[in-house]
Amino acid sequence: MKILFIGDVFGSPGRNMVQEYLPKLKEKYKPQVIVINGENSASGKGITEKIYKQFMEWGAQVITMGNHTWDKKEIYEFIDDAKNLIRPANFPEGTPGKGLTYININGTEVAVLNLQGRTFLPAIDDPFRKVDELILEAKKRTNIIFLDFHAEATSEKQAMGWYVDGRVSAVVGTHTHTQTADNRILPNGTAYITDVGMTGPYDGILGVERDSVIKKFLTSLPVRFEPDKTGRAQLNAVLVTLDQASSKATNIERIMINDDHPFIN
Ligand SMILES: [Fe+2]
Ligand SMILES: [Fe+2]
Repeated sequence: MKILFIGDVFGSPGRNMVQEYLPKLKEKYKPQVIVINGENSASGKGITEKIYKQFMEWGAQVITMGNHTWDKKEIYEFIDDAKNLIRPANFPEGTPGKGLTYININGTEVAVLNLQGRTFLPAIDDPFRKVDELILEAKKRTNIIFLDFHAEATSEKQAMGWYVDGRVSAVVGTHTHTQTADNRILPNGTAYITDVGMTGPYDGILGVERDSVIKKFLTSLPVRFEPDKTGRAQLNAVLVTLDQASSKATNIERIMINDDHPFIN
């Protein structure tokens, strides 16, 4: 089984890249499962119902989120009806939405789980205790568990990877928007990468128009961060291959599409 995961889609430059390249990636890799992190898909901040539906139309089965989940207020209206939109499961009790969903691929269930780290991010529930709880819950239905761990600190992401090694099929990191080159299969069969990277502006700073970010560093004055629309765009993703019988990962490949790394059929 192949799972394609697209890293943080940022604004319209990111959505345009998904629209343009998802058909090509499907053709090339033939993934059975497509998951997209959409926390920045609406002008860099949150997601709208329209964008969620567009991603599903383009072939995604699950959309994951992160610390920008609530940025677009309309999410409160549709999150409970959006079956395959998940937000970090360790948001406090009583928060709208859910952090675990299941999709069915020709009779085989795949659990997709979203959690958020707590280092250099708002204080929320413990993602490590939460992952124990959710693995137990998911295993009642399936051994194939895919985790998007949305976190800032590399150490926290690595700790999560090792903590769940052999209990989930893959841990992919999101949030820091720059793809890391540490993709590997951990000894007990969990695919791991610290960060998948970002799908959006290639010439901005983490997706944001760069002059405003530079101004912020130069002056510390408040500035408005908007997605960069002046430059080129990129797509960052990973392809995880699993052995369906054992639910263990056999490969995790990085995908980077930009002018310096053009897409090859
Ligand atoms: Fe992000
Ligand atoms: Fe984030």
